[in-house]
Amino acid sequence: MQRQNNSSPYESRLEGKVAIITGGARGIGEASTRLFAKHGANVVIADIEDHEGKMVSESLSPAVTYMRCDVSNEEDVAHVVNMTVSKYGRLDIMFNNAGILGEQAKRKSIMDFDAEEFDNVMGVNVKGVCLGMKHAARIMVPRRSGCIISTASVAGVQGGLGPHTYTASKHAIIGLTKNAACELGKYGIRVNSISPFGVATSMLINAWRNYEGEMYEDFDDQEQRIEEFVRSLANLKGQTLRTTDIAEAALYLVSDEAKYVSGHNLVVDGGITSVNNCVGL
Ligand SMILES: NC(=O)c1ccc[n+]([C@@H]2O[C@H](COP(=O)([O-])OP(=O)(O)OC[C@H]3O[C@@H](n4cnc5c(N)ncnc54)[C@H](O)[C@@H]3O)[C@@H](O)[C@H]2O)c1
Repeated sequence: MQRQNNSSPYESRLEGKVAIITGGARGIGEASTRLFAKHGANVVIADIEDHEGKMVSESLSPAVTYMRCDVSNEEDVAHVVNMTVSKYGRLDIMFNNAGILGEQAKRKSIMDFDAEEFDNVMGVNVKGVCLGMKHAARIMVPRRSGCIISTASVAGVQGGLGPHTYTASKHAIIGLTKNAACELGKYGIRVNSISPFGVATSMLINAWRNYEGEMYEDFDDQEQRIEEFVRSLANLKGQTLRTTDIAEAALYLVSDEAKYVSGHNLVVDGGITSVNNCVGL
């Protein structure tokens, strides 16, 4: 779909590109959808939250469309990729962002490990990313260009920052990213990941609610409490990490400015996984 380009060059970093964003209906995925569209991309949101997905796509129509897709289901992922290519004729960017924390925020011990829970979290967070890479690559390899990014986490870099299964799943995404970058580099396809620190999205708000057993009527109030909590843990003071900051990191990785960046895990964490202030600097 062609759209008129009235934007300044800074605002057109993705002009003419076509992107799929999984988990684009809310949170980090929604912010990325909005930013990619602002920069001229056509975006397909692939999510299971029909209501939220349609609301976002309608607010950005015709640049953004919504397709129901459970990323842990191969038929769904293949379908969304096929539909995107048949609608737009190409696929430049695959953003594997959908992810779940699981229920283990409440049951923290490895002795509470739950095999069914493990399969659910791995199914979405790891199999979902593998399937996204697989079906994007089948379109990108013959064209010898494209860009794949996935949302990992600081929990994929360091221990102690999330539940056990979630931590294992996010370490796996960073490993997969490096392996896929190794294989796909010869076709000119870049593969990278992003690892955010805590952002006050539904994921953290629900986990907090389960953990604390507290319910606040007002979503904004809950969001503020999470932000306050994350700020109290942060290494970098004076800033609040928001979904739009992760979207900006994603924009960099998929834009031509990052044309030689591949196999990289872009940590957006204010330095927390790089420091250990045990000597009290
Ligand atoms: N919020 C944080 O603090 C944080 C930190 C590090 C990494 N992350 C990662 O960022 C990504 C986005 O999370 P968020 O914080 O925006 O959470 P969120 O819950 O607001 O958004 C997640 C989105 O993924 C979708 N989704 C869940 N399961 C799906 C499935 N099977 N198929 C398709 N879509 C599915 C949800 O419907 C939702 O729209 C996740 O991979 C998460 O692990 C989040």
